[in-house]
Amino acid sequence: MVIKYREIDDNPRIPISPEKLIVGTRLPFDIFIRDGGLFSPLFDKDMLFTVAAKDLLKEKRVSEIYIQQKDAFNLDAYISKNKAQRNSYYDDPAVFQEYAFYKEQYFQIDKNLLVAGKKIDFSIFMQNELSFIPIIAATDTSPAVIDEKILDLTGDVLIKRSDILRYYAYINSFLNSKDIPENEEPKIKAFAVRENSKLIIKEFLDDPRSGQKVKKATTAVNKITDRILENKDAIYDLLSLRNYDYYTYTHSVNVTVLSVGLGAAIGMKRNDIEKLGVGALLHDIGKSAVPSEILSRQGKLNNIEYKVIKNHVIEGEKLLRAHNDFPEESFAAVLQHHEKLTGKGYPFGLSGSGIKLFGRITALADSYDSLTTQRPYKLAVSPFSALSIVAKETGNYDPELLGVFIKMLGKIK
Ligand SMILES: [Fe+2]
Ligand SMILES: [Fe+2]
Repeated sequence: MVIKYREIDDNPRIPISPEKLIVGTRLPFDIFIRDGGLFSPLFDKDMLFTVAAKDLLKEKRVSEIYIQQKDAFNLDAYISKNKAQRNSYYDDPAVFQEYAFYKEQYFQIDKNLLVAGKKIDFSIFMQNELSFIPIIAATDTSPAVIDEKILDLTGDVLIKRSDILRYYAYINSFLNSKDIPENEEPKIKAFAVRENSKLIIKEFLDDPRSGQKVKKATTAVNKITDRILENKDAIYDLLSLRNYDYYTYTHSVNVTVLSVGLGAAIGMKRNDIEKLGVGALLHDIGKSAVPSEILSRQGKLNNIEYKVIKNHVIEGEKLLRAHNDFPEESFAAVLQHHEKLTGKGYPFGLSGSGIKLFGRITALADSYDSLTTQRPYKLAVSPFSALSIVAKETGNYDPELLGVFIKMLGKIK
């Protein structure tokens, strides 16, 4: 004990607020916590400050942490560097352009299918602000074992796009393995169906013209429909709830799950549910024609850029007309998902009965999912608030569908 006190004298500590630590950065100093008169080490220098570490501080209600006085200089540099980076994110198109480029190199995956102790041959990254931070490094020649610490991370987990096929093999080996406990099986199956659907729609977005794509999309929709018709609570496992950013493929799968769920809840026939689902999965396919830099920057756009985004509806129709196996009824989901019953939507400003059932359903699912998705420049609202926002916009959505939708998502937190 005496030694510890002497340490304080030799090496004075200064208090700082835990708020100063920025998730996703490596700590440039050791961090201590004061326990009575003693300082105990909390985080070591060079440690990656993760969301889990931040949550830990919150959980323990730590209001003050300490660094050594000799590190005060590092603190200033650390704060100003990160502050400068942060401020520039939202205003500088060049930053977004670069970000969009990098973002395209990654694919967002589901953390729930990463199991501690399993071997992987692809690296894992986490997104923080506009950077991608390596969490596990692995290749086929030097695989790694999943560390349970990764499972505590909150936020988006990603892989390199070039590792998609390896990830796909991982999911399949996992599905076929015997170590899934029986009670976990429906959940795991739902997660796998979701990941698989994301991959299929990603492929479609990357190359929307080549053949056989609608067939694959239909298979994905069939699997989603199977899960929901078997057990309506599967909706919760099929949705990706927490995203740091917007990925068209994740959004498309969410809109499909919500639309199929809603179709099933209002008693639609299986055949119609599938057509609705295919339309929902491909509702934003026209976004493949929008530069990813504009897509990532939605919300901070000039008029021309808005027009480019809005044009995804017409572009989507055009792309899908070239696939002659895309069902005619499904076009309503593509063409009308931004229409509002009040007539204030786009591209046609249709109102009332001018908007078909598939259009009404996908419009609701689309707005809800967009509200619950976090973006680099705005926080997501909780599913509950999203429901109340959508509910308050009376007049925009079909009131009957809205009632069923709210009931369907009643259990969501
Ligand atoms: Fe859209
Ligand atoms: Fe959408």
